[in-house]
Amino acid sequence: MATLERVLHRHLSALNARLVSDRGRRLLRDPQHPEGDELPRLLEVVRGAAGLFLAREQVAVLMAELEPLLPGGRSLRREVTVRIEDDVRVARLAARELAEHLGAGALFAQKLATAASELSRNIVSYTRGGALHISFDRGPPRRVRLVASDHGPGISNIDEILEGRYRSRTGLGKGLLGVRKLMDTFAISTGPAGTQVTTEVCLP
Ligand SMILES: Nc1ncnc2c1ncn2[C@@H]1O[C@H](COP(=O)(O)OP(=O)(O)O)[C@@H](O)[C@H]1O
Ligand SMILES: [Mg+2]
Repeated sequence: MATLERVLHRHLSALNARLVSDRGRRLLRDPQHPEGDELPRLLEVVRGAAGLFLAREQVAVLMAELEPLLPGGRSLRREVTVRIEDDVRVARLAARELAEHLGAGALFAQKLATAASELSRNIVSYTRGGALHISFDRGPPRRVRLVASDHGPGISNIDEILEGRYRSRTGLGKGLLGVRKLMDTFAISTGPAGTQVTTEVCLP
């Protein structure tokens, strides 16, 4: 349960963190060792108490960080294996879910989902498979990072593509450029051993 205190301390003053965790622990049979069935209730109490000190969006981030405490809770990282067309949909959905989870608006969710789907579609189209990692970084600035990696043939004409001089036969040839435009940071490393694209978008 050290996680509870650690996360609270990141978001609240020492005094307020203490108030919130005490309020949560008060309802436990054994305050140091909550039992599994007590956790959802504990987190609800923590949510209410944190709301006294934090704005709604901050509470959403705090709760998202606490969610791994729950049995079967989902963390703020997702890793999607990308090999077939269906995985593009999974990656897109995972990005959207994480954005919603963070309490981010529709525009943010749309940007992230679009970038996730462009990058994973490239993996499906041009390589035999790879992965998309989606993760939240509490910063500052608070941001979500996508890392798309594969062991495909690499992109030999990457300069031409990033300068907008490339027109592909398959797609519009503007996927990577589009991602770079949508997102706040963009870096690519590519070669015969594969390609890795890292791109981030800051929460408003
Ligand atoms: N992960 C990758 N591995 C190998 N080649 C890639 C990869 N991603 C993109 N490419 C190459 O870069 C080109 C441009 O990609 P992109 O900007 O997404 O446009 P499009 O996919 O519409 O062609 C692709 O046509 C492809 O040749
Ligand atoms: Mg593409």
